[in-house]
Amino acid sequence: MMKKEHLVVAKLNKTYQTDGQEVSVLEDIFLHVAQHEFLSIVGASGCGKSTLLRIIGGLDTEYEGMVTLGGKKILGAGLDRGIVFQEHRLLPWLTVQENMEFALQEGSPEQKKELIAEHLEMVGLVGFEKAYPSQLSGGMAQRVAIARALVNKPDILLLDEPFGALDALTRLKMQKEMLSIWEKGKTTMIMVTHDIEEAVFLGSRVVVMSDRPGTIKKEFVVDLPRPRNRSDAAFLQLRKKIYQEFREDLT
Ligand SMILES: Nc1ncnc2c1ncn2[C@@H]1O[C@H](COP(=O)(O)OP(=O)(O)O)[C@@H](O)[C@H]1O
Ligand SMILES: [Mg+2]
Repeated sequence: MMKKEHLVVAKLNKTYQTDGQEVSVLEDIFLHVAQHEFLSIVGASGCGKSTLLRIIGGLDTEYEGMVTLGGKKILGAGLDRGIVFQEHRLLPWLTVQENMEFALQEGSPEQKKELIAEHLEMVGLVGFEKAYPSQLSGGMAQRVAIARALVNKPDILLLDEPFGALDALTRLKMQKEMLSIWEKGKTTMIMVTHDIEEAVFLGSRVVVMSDRPGTIKKEFVVDLPRPRNRSDAAFLQLRKKIYQEFREDLT
């Protein structure tokens, strides 16, 4: 079955000016993401993952090339894209409920209340509406950030190392929760990570980036049934294959 094309990145080039020098950060990026797909992007630190996600999110519009969502050129941030960063970026002086309200742009007060309740339930945080971010664990705060990013029902959710600041066990738990959120809502997701296991656990496809300048080096289709078993032979084999793309960096 042909899937509807959703996000298209073509011939994307990005340079930064550093000390009067033009430094190429992303070079000739082509990326097609289908609706409902979960795309993982892995790459070494500094290879341009966040830059790419910021461009797709519309937070950076200074680039060459084409970036379109549903056929429309991305010209800035919009409610059709939600973003989650490594840090939760909640407003510390607002409660969970207020942080959600602050993000929610459309609807009557009644609809807003319902949307907030629906999304807090999705991330398992019913009962924490009145808590302040400082009263939450790292994992809980990140779950609020995910709920907040989804509350406007975006077409696409962009995740920039979303579990990178969490301890190992919380991280595993959050990966499972992310999977169930994706399976329920089928929001298209793009997750950037430097954790190959995480990329394989969640992604329907894993794109490997090389660095300096960032290019798309390789693409792997993850054809394993979900939920995936991390100690399964096929899982380990694919993980190893992706690791080998980083061989030069590791030896
Ligand atoms: N605002 C900026 N000005 C100049 N260089 C930048 C800027 N932001 C990022 N860079 C550089 O661009 C490269 C890619 O950064 P980034 O996208 O954050 O990588 P990643 O997320 O993969 O770690 C890095 O070498 C970084 O130093
Ligand atoms: Mg980054």
